[in-house]
Amino acid sequence: MSYIFVDHLCKSFVVRKKREKGSLLREKETVHALQDVSFEIEKGELVGYIGPNGAGKSTTVKILSGILVPESGTVTVGGRVPWENRKEHVSHIGVVFGQRTQLWWDVPLLDSYSLLKDIYRVPEASYKKRLDELTEALQLGDLLRTPLRLLSLGQRMRAELCGSLLHSPELLYLDEPTIGLDAVSKLALRDFLRWENAEKGTTILLTTHDMEDIVALCSRVMVLGHGSKLYDGGLQELLTQYDTTKTVQVEEHQNIDQVIASMYKNLGL
Ligand SMILES: Nc1ncnc2c1ncn2[C@@H]1O[C@H](COP(=O)(O)OP(=O)(O)OP(=O)(O)O)[C@@H](O)[C@H]1O
Ligand SMILES: [Mg+2]
Repeated sequence: MSYIFVDHLCKSFVVRKKREKGSLLREKETVHALQDVSFEIEKGELVGYIGPNGAGKSTTVKILSGILVPESGTVTVGGRVPWENRKEHVSHIGVVFGQRTQLWWDVPLLDSYSLLKDIYRVPEASYKKRLDELTEALQLGDLLRTPLRLLSLGQRMRAELCGSLLHSPELLYLDEPTIGLDAVSKLALRDFLRWENAEKGTTILLTTHDMEDIVALCSRVMVLGHGSKLYDGGLQELLTQYDTTKTVQVEEHQNIDQVIASMYKNLGL
């Protein structure tokens, strides 16, 4: 079986509608966040997971990390059902949500990392080795004694990545990791992810609205819309299919956002 196996996955949420004028009751409505989604990812792959706002990307990542339980479907990651033995599962994965932090706000980075070492029960020697390696690759050396709250957004994202990888997970989920970053920070982050994937063999599932991230990193991309998987395959084929100017090479696409927008439109999104 593949490393990540997702079969006929469904998840919906019951939400309360806004109260109608003059009515005392708020009606309920079901949002079908994921409808019959299936895919498989092999160990060591770096896959882009894209789709417009509300498509169900974060919901998928939450299910894969065991935060949410689906209503139907089969999901295994490395043979484990994510939400059944969460503690065991999280020791094999790393998750970075671009808009949230897993580090402690007021303490120096090094103290946060040391806490994570204890939480994940990383042996001292492997922790030291991994920390050295990550601080070098992420250029964090000078910042280790600085509290998180004093870091810039770009520095904070590098610090988050380091924290999520200290226990050497087999799998890293990234949910909009380049959000709000300047051009230089984005390039550095992409270089790092390429290194982590190639050198360490870490499987990476990347969710982003920044198409340059996808072009730079992913040869395979899955497109989600209204909770359904609409495309799964090569990035090159996807772009060629929807590029009206019929540019052949990915690198030559003048405005990748335009191509993606036209694709979403053609798919009825
Ligand atoms: N906890 C929740 N309660 C109610 N509805 C939710 C919840 N989480 C997600 N949803 C709904 O499920 C749908 C999918 O949301 P999700 O966050 O997975 O989308 P997304 O693809 O990550 O979007 P974005 O690109 O904006 O981050 C949306 O309609 C959202 O409003
Ligand atoms: Mg999201």
